[in-house]
Amino acid sequence: MLEVRPLRSGGGRTMRMIDLIIKKRDGKTLNAEEFDFVAQAAAQGTVPDYQLSAFLMACFLHPLSNKETALLTKAMAHTGPRLDFSDIDMPKVDKHSTGGVGDGVSLALAPLVACAGVAVPMMSGRGLGHTGGTLDKLESIKNFEIRIPAKLIHRQIQKLGVCMFGQTKDLAPADRKLYALRDATGTVESRPLIVASILSKKYAEGVDSLLMDVKYGSGAFMQKLPDSKKLAQMLVSTAKLLGLNCRALITYMDQPLGRAVGNANEMYQTIQILKGDKDLAPDFYEAVIETGAHMLVISGREKNLDKARKMLTGYITDGSALRKFREMIKWQGGNPTVADEPEKFLKNAKLSFEFKADKKGYVGFIDAKLTGRAGVLLGAGRDRMEDEIDFGAGIWLHKKAGDAVKKGDVIATLYASDPKRLQAGAELFGQAVKITAAKPKPYKLVHSIIK
Ligand code: URA
Repeated sequence: MLEVRPLRSGGGRTMRMIDLIIKKRDGKTLNAEEFDFVAQAAAQGTVPDYQLSAFLMACFLHPLSNKETALLTKAMAHTGPRLDFSDIDMPKVDKHSTGGVGDGVSLALAPLVACAGVAVPMMSGRGLGHTGGTLDKLESIKNFEIRIPAKLIHRQIQKLGVCMFGQTKDLAPADRKLYALRDATGTVESRPLIVASILSKKYAEGVDSLLMDVKYGSGAFMQKLPDSKKLAQMLVSTAKLLGLNCRALITYMDQPLGRAVGNANEMYQTIQILKGDKDLAPDFYEAVIETGAHMLVISGREKNLDKARKMLTGYITDGSALRKFREMIKWQGGNPTVADEPEKFLKNAKLSFEFKADKKGYVGFIDAKLTGRAGVLLGAGRDRMEDEIDFGAGIWLHKKAGDAVKKGDVIATLYASDPKRLQAGAELFGQAVKITAAKPKPYKLVHSIIK
């Protein structure tokens, strides 16, 4: 329910946006009512954009404390209804990734973790720029419905334990407005504003535990490791102030995760993993198990991380995870047979190009950002929110960093529906791949854990 907050200050005087701008401009601390006023004003359009923009710039120049960030987060979340699963007697847990290339982990993770008897209401977004989006990947299954009314999300969580859906228009509407203004005023990079933006949507989702996957590297939102760590620390401490159980994994995104980049082929990879094919994409498999195990621990479902890992591996080998995935497809309007015969339903685009090694050596490095950009050129992603996605377009990496190659070995197959797109994608992908004489050092997927 929308909570209507008082728009009066403590002394009964009507609150004015100009006073809040001045207060922040002078580096003073704002209280809960004041943040409520700003968030409601943003959601309801009751103050002009120039005042909200000035306020955001003041917040950029005088960063909010953790407590202020939590207050702003809560205020933003309360500008729309909050999903309520309090009558469901299970821990409720979700994860949020700051986004990357080939990061289709959520697709396998949500049904897998739900097998352990925890509720997973997983709200995701669409791809933009070089990063992919879970909703687009889900929609590579024909008729899979991601626009689900709150009542039906609740029912599905109660009966099945998992539902994967898109952000509704009324969920934390203040964020949509404030994000658009930040984008236009050079204030996106403010860490407290990023934290409030991310967490307002997660807080509104009604979970009690949240795992953050904060990536670093060329394909990540935060490219530098120290910046990712600082963001993760603030996300975790703010989430805790909001009463959520939270921890963050700092994970590698200098190179793409797994073998698939695109929508139908990331879905194909997911299904193969859920079928128990550990060797197809070992880094992707590891990401799913590690993320899932931490989710089980923070939700209180399992104390011991190693037992949690074993539990999840067991749900894959005994077929429960694939069964849960199949049922989820059915609940959400898709054809559950996709889970059994993915190659029949998840088709690659009709044109393809084999990218081959031009010399003997090792695959030294495949740049994540350039690979993601190549994916967009092929048609697998979008530069503007209104652009159409070609579900069959994308890249399959036959070789990954560390693999030995001979001249002429196929490193990747690229797919597109249009010859110009195929050409553009192939040219850019060529810049992403480095063949080296020496074998590169292996990298760690999970760099550290912030609790
Ligand atoms: N993702 C969000 O949802 N908000 C931000 O501000 C940045 C990344």
